[in-house]
Order: sequence, then structure tokens, then C-alpha cells
Amino acid sequence: MTTTLIGRDGPATRLRAEMDRTASHGGLVFVTGEAGVGKTALVTRMLDEADREGNVVASGAAWDREGAPGYWPWVQVVRRLARELDGDEWQRAADAAGAGLSFLLGEITEPPPVDDLDDATFWMYDAVTTLLVTIARDRPLIIALEDLHWADASTLHLLEFVVRHTWFERLLVVGTYRDVEVETPGHPLQKLLRPLEMKATTITLTGLDVADVGALISQVTGLETDHEIVTAVHRRTGGNPLYIEQLARLWHVGNPVDIVPPGIRDALHRHLERLPTPLLSALTDAAVIGPEFHRHLLAAVTGRTGAEIHQLLQQAALTRLVLPLEAGRFRFAHDLVREILYESTGPEQRRRTHAAVARALHNAGDDGVAPAHLAHHAYLAVPDIAPADAIQHLLAAGREASCRLAADEAETHYRRALELVPDDSPGDRASIMLRLADQERRAGSPEAARRTLVTAAELAERDGDLLNRIRTALDELSGPASQAEAGDDAAVNSFRFDGAVWTLSFAGRTIHMPDAKGLHDLHTLLSRPGTDVPVVDLLTARSGDDARSARRFGGDDVLDDTAKEQYRQRLSQLDEEIDLALDRRDDERAAQLDRERTALLDQLRQAAGLGGRTRSLGDEAERSRKTVTARIRDVLRRLDERHPELAAHLRTTVSTGIACRYDPPADGASWDL
Ligand SMILES: Nc1ncnc2c1ncn2[C@@H]1O[C@H](COP(=O)(O)OP(=O)(O)OP(=O)(O)O)[C@@H](O)[C@H]1O
Ligand SMILES: [Mg+2]
Repeated sequence: MTTTLIGRDGPATRLRAEMDRTASHGGLVFVTGEAGVGKTALVTRMLDEADREGNVVASGAAWDREGAPGYWPWVQVVRRLARELDGDEWQRAADAAGAGLSFLLGEITEPPPVDDLDDATFWMYDAVTTLLVTIARDRPLIIALEDLHWADASTLHLLEFVVRHTWFERLLVVGTYRDVEVETPGHPLQKLLRPLEMKATTITLTGLDVADVGALISQVTGLETDHEIVTAVHRRTGGNPLYIEQLARLWHVGNPVDIVPPGIRDALHRHLERLPTPLLSALTDAAVIGPEFHRHLLAAVTGRTGAEIHQLLQQAALTRLVLPLEAGRFRFAHDLVREILYESTGPEQRRRTHAAVARALHNAGDDGVAPAHLAHHAYLAVPDIAPADAIQHLLAAGREASCRLAADEAETHYRRALELVPDDSPGDRASIMLRLADQERRAGSPEAARRTLVTAAELAERDGDLLNRIRTALDELSGPASQAEAGDDAAVNSFRFDGAVWTLSFAGRTIHMPDAKGLHDLHTLLSRPGTDVPVVDLLTARSGDDARSARRFGGDDVLDDTAKEQYRQRLSQLDEEIDLALDRRDDERAAQLDRERTALLDQLRQAAGLGGRTRSLGDEAERSRKTVTARIRDVLRRLDERHPELAAHLRTTVSTGIACRYDPPADGASWDL
């Protein structure tokens, strides 16, 4: 229906000039402006012209609602090129691009190891660039990436790479986005778009002027409209073509000409309300599927026959609500239409439809179904789809996204899976967090990854195997960085706890350990070098059962201070020897020392004449000693495997017994605690 682009001579000329320059070299143009202002209309028109003139053109659009796979606009561009170019032309370009393209197209089934990620990403970016450059050397190439305000970060990273490496090629990239949305505070893409804006020529579209508003109304309705009304419409709509189109359609179906709903959404709403019920209902289901949909899928979701859907979609195309694409696919002509239809569904209906979409996609098997789409619908369908099933789909989608090097997307899937795992399944949560952390790391957020792993370590307490994997991930994460840190200041070691995980650095090597009481004991000792610390102090240093069950040694005033001191010293000597013997695995010697120790306790009891009361005191002190010794020893054993240098250092400097103590070596050792 709308055939002429009204009031866009200026922007069209500027875009045309950029396109003409493509004959000699490349560039980047952004077409920006509010929703419905005519970005797509302008770009589509210019691309059609370029196509007719023998340039190669291809476009792709980002989707909202986190339902689209990462790099989606690029995937569409590459697929379109594969379809549009003739066999030889495509083959030449694809051969030049090489295997790196397989990542983008989802043909790789194993995510590359993190260490190879930079190489793999470069390989993929380079392949896409080479593909475009090879094509552009034959014929100028113009690519449109639409709706970048919804793009994932990966899409913009790839855009940045392509632009940087094709400046002297005959390749023009045209990006469109709603500047108003990107400029809202905190928009995640601001940071990524800014540097691109510096390189780009930006064409900002604003509303049509009064004369153009009149022309557009006439174009849509076929009627000449009173100047006063045109002025009023111009004032109310700000000259937004989508808004005006919707108004004109309302008038067309018999509403009084001066009716102007207060906003573009209201205008669309009223327009949609007038559609025949079966069409409205089918379009509403289509809106749940997404901005693009296949008619077979819509038939499966609505439960209508293929013929019925075909007819309804023809009707929808006539009213320009949807546009037919190739091979049975359709696209909403405007996303605001889809948003309004989507929002018109109640939560229950929405869930039901998402569930129907998920089932239809699932039944379609591997047949071109992106795991991301299936996961998206399954997630939004919970509980109509069992949470456990949705989790499986999300995990599969996360893995698949990782194979496509789309770490941001994978993160989204794993976060959603976490939302669905009940709190009383800490192991499952920890295992998903391990995957999430991997993606956070791949996406270049090591700090976020560390925080996730720390939480995972807390949750995985009972699963040794999982805990080990989490620890390994933590070690890998902080390995090079903290080694570098340690290299800067090798004298500073650290023994720190951040509330969930310990960071232990010694001799230039850092490891992370999950919380353990023995680590707190060692921490206390390291913080009081050269001081005897009674075991009961260690027990009471931490709240909990141990602390409650242990009374401070010497807190009983029946023993005087000298007796306490003697008791402590002699017993502690024996304790140390027992520990050493146990560490050497010399059980016989340990048993002998323990017999001596028991005898000493008996003697002390009698000498002090303390009867039954001492006995309980002795038991308590003994229990404390054993507890603390065992837990420190336990930590040292684990350190033997994970950080032998630190374990060796602590073995020679820490003594345990009724009193424990850290004696730093003569040349000192400074600890960041
Ligand atoms: N200059 C124009 N002349 C005539 N019709 C126009 C013009 N600009 C836009 N339109 C019509 O207005 C409607 C909205 O335009 P379009 O889809 O291009 O907006 P957009 O800026 O891309 O919006 P969005 O940000 O939502 O993608 C379309 O139906 C389009 O055909
Ligand atoms: Mg658009």
C-alpha cells in the first residue's frame, strides 16, 4: 500500500552518498530515531535500489526478549548471502572464509576450551570478515543490521571487528537502532555503541513535517484531508509515520477523522481490535512465537489446518501487519504490533501458548529448530512445561550457544535455568553455576565468574567431585592474574576469606579453597605470630556448636594460673610430638606419646587435688585439642595436594597442641590476612 517514501529526501540523499562511496571503499552508517519513525522503511528502500543496481545486499535484525540466539543478525546475513548469491560466488567466498564460519552457523558441537577461546573467536570473526571481503571484491556489498538496540553484545563486537578490518573494502554496513532506547540510562549497549558511533555517519530521522503528514494521510487513505486536521494530527503524533498510518487506518474503517488516540500504542490497539477474531487470535499466537515465524509452526500452535493458516496469513499480509518472507516464513511488519498483541494475552494464556510453541518445536526435532528458541519458550511456559524439562532445554541451549561462541547468550540460558532449580537442590544449583561461571569468564567477566564460583563452592559442600571441579575452575581463573600479582610483590602472601571461599597465596602461587574450620584456625595463628593461642580460643573464635560446647580452658577458677601454665606447656609439648608422629604416619610412636600424655593428665589431676572437676576440665581441653589438631591436619593434607609449598611452610611453622602457635621463619613472611 505505502509505495512512496514521503519527506525523506534529505536522509535518502545522505544514505545514497554513503552507498555510492562503497564503489571505492567501505563505511558504517547508523540510521537512528524513535520507534516507527521510518528507519526500516528508508533502509529497505535504499537496499532495494542498491540491489537493482547490481550490488549484493543482505540484512538481518536483532530480536528482543532474549529469545534470539547470539550473533543472530549476523547469522541471518550470512544465511541470506548463502541463499542469494549464485552457487559459484557463494562457494568462492565460503572457501575463502574457511572453517571459522562453522562456529557462527552452529555447526560445531564442542565448545572450544577457554584457553583457545580467543583464537576461536578471532577465527570466527576473521571468517565472517573474509567472507564479506571476498564477496565485496567481486561486487560492492551492503549489509543492514536492524534494530541494534536489541542486539546482544556479541553482535556488536563482531560489527566492530568487521568495520575495523574492511575500511578499504567495498563494503557498507548500515545499522539501525532506536536512539531513544539506547540513550536511556543504564542501557547495556551504550558502552559498545559509543565507539562505533564515533566511526559512523549517523542519520537521525525525526517526525515528518505538516505537509508530509498530509501527504502520508492521503497516501494511506486515498483521501484529501482538511488542513486543520492534518495540523492537529501532526501536533499529536509528532509526525511519526507509523502513528499516522495507524490513525489513517482507523479513519478508513469508519472512525471520525478527528479521532486521535493519545499514543501510538493506542492507535495500534484500536486498529488491531477491529480485526476478525480468527485472524486476531492467530496473530496473537504468532506474536508469542516471535518477530518471525513459519506458517507450519503457527498451524501447529493454533491447532488450525495449514490451509486455514495460509488464508489468515494472506489476510494479515493484505493489512500489512505481517510481511511474507521466503520459504513459508513471515515477519511482523512492525514490532510494536507484535508487542501489543503479546501484551494483550493474560499470563495464563501466554504460558499456554509458549508451552504449545515449545512442544511444537520439540516435536519438530532437530529440523532447523534453534535450541535457543526451544529453551526460551520452555522457560516462559513453566509450569505448563515441567521445570525439569525447561531446565534441560536451557542447559542444552547454553551448551549450544557456547559452541557458537555466544557467551552472553549462554549466560542468559544458565541464569534462567538457575531460576528454575529449587533451593533445596544445592548440588544442581552449583553444577549450573559452574557452567555459568565458565561463560562469564568467556564473556570477559572474570570477577563475575569468581563470585559465581564462590557461591557454587558453598553449595557444593557435600559433593566432593563437583567441589573439586569448582576449585579447579577458581584456580584456573585466578592463576595467571594472581601469579602476576604475586610476581609484583612476591613478599606478600595472603590467607584471606571473603565469606565463602579462601584465597591462599604463597610463593607466587594462588589457590582457592572452600571454607573449612582448620583454615580459620590457621588464619588466627598467622595473625598472632609468635604467640601461644589456646585451642579453646580457636574453638570459641568461631560461633557454632564447637564454641558452645567448649568452655574456655582456664575459665574454671579452680585451677590457679601457675598450674594452668604448667599444664599447658607440658601437655602442649606432648601434643606437638604426637602430631608430628601422626604426620609422619608413625602410629606406634604416637600411641606411646599419647599414653605418656594420659599419665601426665592423671598426675596433674591428683597433684592439684581437683577430683572429678579436673577430670571434666581435662576431657574438655583434650577434646578441644583433638578437634583443632584434627582440623588443622586435615587442611594441611589437602594443601599437600593443592599447594605443597604452602603446606610445607605451615608444617614447619605451626605447632598444635593445647596451645597452638605460628612461628614465622627467621627471614619473616608477611601475610595479607
Ligand atoms: N517516509 C515515510 N513515508 C511513508 N511511510 C513511511 C515513511 N516512514 C515510515 N513509513 C511507514 O511507517 C511505518 C513504520 O516505519 P518503520 O517500520 O520503518 O519504522 P522504524 O523506524 O523502523 O521503527 P522500529 O524502530 O520500530 O523498527 C511503516 O509501515 C512504514 O512503511
Ligand atoms: Mg525498524
